[in-house]
Amino acid sequence: MSAQATSETSFFLRHEFLIRRVHSLLGIVPLGLYMTVHLATNASLLNGTETFQRAVFLIHSPGKLLPLIEWGAIFLPLIFHAVIGVWIARSGRSNSSQYQFRSNRRYTWQRWTGFIALVYLFFHILHLHGWFHVPAWQELIRPLGFGVFRPFNAASSLVEAMQEWGYIWPAFYLIGVLACVYHLANGLWTSGITWGLWISPTAQARASKLCTAIGCGLAILGVSAWWAAVSPGPQATVKMEQTEDRMYEAAVESGMVTPNPEKRRDDETGQPAEVAAND
Ligand code: HEM
Ligand code: HEM
Repeated sequence: MSAQATSETSFFLRHEFLIRRVHSLLGIVPLGLYMTVHLATNASLLNGTETFQRAVFLIHSPGKLLPLIEWGAIFLPLIFHAVIGVWIARSGRSNSSQYQFRSNRRYTWQRWTGFIALVYLFFHILHLHGWFHVPAWQELIRPLGFGVFRPFNAASSLVEAMQEWGYIWPAFYLIGVLACVYHLANGLWTSGITWGLWISPTAQARASKLCTAIGCGLAILGVSAWWAAVSPGPQATVKMEQTEDRMYEAAVESGMVTPNPEKRRDDETGQPAEVAAND
């Protein structure tokens, strides 16, 4: 082992107690909380284009502050949690010897779903959000079919994004969402051990039932969000877009939304209006 690797390892080992607790906390707040609200928002599309568009207008209302909120409250905690998660999983520093056999198997799944979440979230964010809202970067990724979500045409651009590569995106999303749900529900249970909330076998068995119930609820929410995005046919997006355009004009007129062509779709090129105008 090189001297640098040794000093990195010993840094983690020296601060392991604190790092594990920060890792655990970030998995619950903000990440677990964000995921729950995010899945509920996406599932709201089942109630119609208007309901979903209203929610997305609200999420995008911080305007120029939004990237700061996204990076500070979501992306950086996610990257920190992922890096430490990979380190824990690869170094085999499991605390699962304290658990029973069944829990050991669940812990193996915790690691695997962590790796699936890593791949899923990297491509999911690239696919819809694009990671960076810098014009040069966006122009590079959009022709490849990434960064395609348009917040002011929320339902139609989401549904269209899912239809791009046949069954590939729907299958990818279903696996990714279910892996994230398992990871959070089982993670809530293991976090109770990290924080010393359930120690005795009886308490652990009770907590296990609670986390299973939470996991089932989240799975229903996740599959609903998935179904809302993948089930509408190609024709449905035409009507969705008309509704969104009507809502956008009314929202701009009333001052609720600041006009922003970047966040809308452009029909002819499939690119946002501003990028298309520059071509
Ligand atoms: C991005 C990729 C991710 C990776 C690689 C990853 C990896 C891991 C690993 C290996 C563990 C087990 C750590 C241990 O032994 O204590 C873990 C725990 C956990 N993860 Fe993740 N994770 C990821 C994303 C997420 C997300 C998106 C959430 C929330 C929705 C989340 C929530 C949790 C929770 C609550 C725990 C339990 C912490 C504890 O036992 O104290 N993780 N993660
Ligand atoms: C079928 C299920 C899902 C759908 C339909 C969906 C939809 C979306 C959409 C439309 C965006 C772009 C939002 C924007 O740019 O304003 C987005 C971004 C994002 N999604 Fe998902 N998502 C799903 C599952 C998940 C899961 C399970 C996670 C796990 C935590 C997740 C985490 C994220 C993150 C971190 C972002 C980027 C931050 C943001 O834009 O707010 N998504 N998702």
